[in-house]
Amino acid sequence: MLFIALLGLLPYLASAAVVDKRANPNAGSTTVNVYPPSKTTVNTAVFPAESDVGYEGITITAVEPAAIQTAKAYAYNSEDTSIFPLVVDQPEDSNGQGNFEINKYWGNLSPWYSVPSSFYGLNETSPNAPDGCSVTQVHLLYRHGARYPTSGAAPSTFAAKVANATKQEGGFNSWGELDFLNSWEYKLGAELLTVSGRLQNFALGASFRQQYGYLLNNFTEQGTLPVFRTESQDRMVKTATNFAAGMFGVPEFLSQVNIEIMIETPGVNNTGAPYETCTNSNVPSRGSIGSTAANAFAINAFNGTIERLQGQIQGVNFTSTDIIAMLQLCSYETDALGYSAFCKLFTQEDFENYEYYYDISFYYNNGAGSPVAAAQGKGFLSEFVSRFTQTPMPKADSSVNSTLDNNPVYFPLNQSIYADATHEVILLDTFTALNLSALFSSGPLPTDKKTESSFKASQVVPFATHLTIQVLECSNTSPSKQIRFILNDAVLPIDQSYPGCQWNKDGLCSFDTVVSALQKRLEEIDWNHDCYGNYTAQPGQDYNGRAPRN
Ligand SMILES: *[C@@H]1O[C@H](CO)[C@@H](O)[C@H](O)[C@H]1NC(C)=O
Ligand SMILES: *[C@@H]1O[C@H](CO)[C@@H](O)[C@H](O)[C@H]1NC(C)=O
Ligand SMILES: *[C@@H]1O[C@H](CO)[C@@H](O)[C@H](O)[C@H]1NC(C)=O
Ligand SMILES: *[C@@H]1O[C@H](CO)[C@@H](O)[C@H](O)[C@H]1NC(C)=O
Ligand SMILES: *[C@@H]1O[C@H](CO)[C@@H](O)[C@H](O)[C@H]1NC(C)=O
Ligand SMILES: *[C@@H]1O[C@H](CO)[C@@H](O)[C@H](O)[C@H]1NC(C)=O
Ligand SMILES: *[C@@H]1O[C@H](CO)[C@@H](O)[C@H](O)[C@H]1NC(C)=O
Ligand SMILES: *[C@@H]1O[C@H](CO)[C@@H](O)[C@H](O)[C@H]1NC(C)=O
Ligand SMILES: *[C@@H]1O[C@H](CO)[C@@H](O)[C@H](O)[C@H]1NC(C)=O
Ligand SMILES: *[C@@H]1O[C@H](CO)[C@@H](O)[C@H](O)[C@H]1NC(C)=O
Repeated sequence: MLFIALLGLLPYLASAAVVDKRANPNAGSTTVNVYPPSKTTVNTAVFPAESDVGYEGITITAVEPAAIQTAKAYAYNSEDTSIFPLVVDQPEDSNGQGNFEINKYWGNLSPWYSVPSSFYGLNETSPNAPDGCSVTQVHLLYRHGARYPTSGAAPSTFAAKVANATKQEGGFNSWGELDFLNSWEYKLGAELLTVSGRLQNFALGASFRQQYGYLLNNFTEQGTLPVFRTESQDRMVKTATNFAAGMFGVPEFLSQVNIEIMIETPGVNNTGAPYETCTNSNVPSRGSIGSTAANAFAINAFNGTIERLQGQIQGVNFTSTDIIAMLQLCSYETDALGYSAFCKLFTQEDFENYEYYYDISFYYNNGAGSPVAAAQGKGFLSEFVSRFTQTPMPKADSSVNSTLDNNPVYFPLNQSIYADATHEVILLDTFTALNLSALFSSGPLPTDKKTESSFKASQVVPFATHLTIQVLECSNTSPSKQIRFILNDAVLPIDQSYPGCQWNKDGLCSFDTVVSALQKRLEEIDWNHDCYGNYTAQPGQDYNGRAPRN
């Protein structure tokens, strides 16, 4: 009787256990860990500040934002606010339902947004530790937040074209939807992080502390401070410091983390800026085939838009370049000034074509369709492998700087938390080098017309995009040491990426299996050929990020 009664209880015992299946990593520790470790201090001699490092690049400040005057609605309680504190309009052809989020169609100029794992086919998981697993180590690779246009980009050229028109005989006039252009002024700076960009990186740091703060106990036990890395450009330094401020607090971040600023300038080896040494990076028939293909797509995609807008302006003849420039002004002004009157000029289809323009550009410049992507991502890939295996870099056959990476002070191998900041192109190059094929699963993007695909630039390379690699200890897997890859909250399936990995509902695979696949991947990526070789590449195919031998 008793036996049967106990059997009857079993389901209840089992379900009670479900609640507790995910171990609290702080449980059971006898001492209370308080970060930072005692007697530690940042080493400014080894990790000097931005002003001492130099190479901060072009820095052009902007007119102050004045959203309280200029925005169409108030960011806090407006239904139009899809991404606080920015205010965006509905598309020109909106049906008034207000459900199309234009900011998710701006490619690399989108503010990052949370992507569901189901987009990549994992419908029943989240970044939270799966049942039975504890995250024991985390590797974060993240992009700077919103910035002004790079210097000389299309928006400033468009502003000059409009300014020129006002000086011409016949003058300039616009009306209807374009009426605002009569009094419009170009207010953007160049290259620097914007206010909302600062907020994105701060928020990323704060949420990272919320999620992974317990891993700092490892530093407390070791009596060391973490080394987090970035590049010397002003926005990159500001990105890393804002992230640190969010993670450690103000002013604590000044004394609780070493920020390593790697020099970004032509000719210098830097895993965060491989295009400075990979000379094929910007060759039209090699590293930038995506830009060419995207421009060709734009020439055909916006004819109806040109026709509609041309009827409301005199003194300027619109081209597809101008349309892209105005769409970019929509993105950049929103990101920098809080609102842009350009956004409501464009239809839902225009925004979809704009996103696709970026999808083409990034897929073929830095994704699977690029001949230099894997080579450019090889630097971070080899650093990941080095950190995974806690083995110093064996050789510098990429953008790796062995002077830094063979020195444990600059490149420690025993951290429980890593956080490196870089550019979106390098993040995508690195995903390509990591062979994260889920991103590219629908194959090469057609370049002549918009087609549904698994590769969406705004999901992969937006402002503050971030790849989180979790190393886990699981009681219900064999072996117990597992790894998974999370991009902007979407857990990626890796069974197609790494031979030996099975499909897993939480995107898990054996750590050792993945590491040995990545070591093979390192061997097949040929930096010298891909970056310096004399070959011709074309858009339209999946190169797996590696140059053809022609
Ligand atoms: C996962 O979700 C997507 C979209 O929500 C759906 O299309 C797909 O069929 C689902 N797959 C599985 C295996 O449930
Ligand atoms: C503006 O006009 C000047 C002088 O005519 C010309 O050199 C320049 O290319 C024009 N700029 C643009 C963006 O149209
Ligand atoms: C390695 O990095 C350091 C610091 O960024 C830099 O001074 C040095 O020139 C780099 N070495 C090479 C070979 O580029
Ligand atoms: C769009 O306009 C361009 C430039 O006038 C022209 O070359 C192209 O054929 C047009 N494309 C379509 C699809 O109408
Ligand atoms: C615009 O195009 C029309 C027709 O081709 C031409 O007559 C006019 O001069 C052009 N205007 C400008 C400002 O380039
Ligand atoms: C810099 O990179 C080149 C190309 O991979 C390599 O040959 C060289 O050894 C590297 N230098 C250092 C100091 O890492
Ligand atoms: C971790 O690496 C750093 C840098 O080499 C070193 O100072 C520290 O003692 C190491 N800690 C452990 C526990 O090995
Ligand atoms: C801290 O984390 C590193 C990397 O996971 C590990 O090698 C080391 O043993 C940990 N140290 C302590 C004291 O837990
Ligand atoms: C990369 O992924 C492809 C499939 O997407 C796979 O065939 C190949 O084996 C992988 N390469 C490595 C080195 O794991
Ligand atoms: C590169 O290859 C092309 C086509 O095969 C050839 O025309 C050109 O001369 C080569 N250039 C160099 C520098 O070898």
